Amino acid sequence: MKELLTVRKAVTRDVESIFCLLELYAHSGIVLSRSREDISFFISNFTVAEYEGKVCGCAAVRDFGNDLLEVRSLVVMPGLQGKGIGRAMLRVIISNLNADRNGWRLFALTLRPDFFRSLGFREVPKSLFPEKIWSDCSKCAKRSCCDEIAVLLESGGN
Ligand SMILES: CC(C)(COP(=O)(O)OP(=O)(O)OC[C@H]1O[C@@H](n2cnc3c(N)ncnc32)[C@H](O)[C@@H]1OP(=O)(O)O)[C@@H](O)C(=O)NCCC(=O)NCCS
Repeated sequence: MKELLTVRKAVTRDVESIFCLLELYAHSGIVLSRSREDISFFISNFTVAEYEGKVCGCAAVRDFGNDLLEVRSLVVMPGLQGKGIGRAMLRVIISNLNADRNGWRLFALTLRPDFFRSLGFREVPKSLFPEKIWSDCSKCAKRSCCDEIAVLLESGGN
């Protein structure tokens, strides 16, 4: 598995693969649907995993400023889950943050807190992230009955 897996920054030719991966999970509300135009505009935020030359996973990092970042649009293709691909993408993202910044806080709102816990994230109150709540949550159909858990990893803690 490991020798056939590559994790790299996304480029424009990955837009369609990322779009299709996100759509697989957007219908059930696990991730937010994103248009091809939106993915294309923010392509530099995306990391992708390639297995046997095909994009099989993606994750994006959104910068809220003030050293606060969010990992979002994180998915691995069905059938290839549980093989370390999600972890490999998160490790590359964390290693790039360590290389590029002096300090950072990386959070996620997720239905899969155990995945994030296995990478050193800890559960925190959602109210710590008003930036997220005002930008995305206020538009979400589940805003009054949100079942997502907030998890946080801080530089120096991994
Ligand atoms: C969640 C997801 C991105 C994880 O990626 P993955 O490649 O399947 O996970 P990995 O194989 O890298 O697993 C890393 C660790 O997390 C754990 N883990 C992964 N998914 C888990 C889950 N759903 N529940 C509990 N633990 C999980 C694994 O057991 C592993 O820990 P271990 O090595 O101690 O056993 C992937 O399963 C996925 O795309 N799920 C559907 C979409 C989704 O839920 N996206 C997250 C939105 S925030």
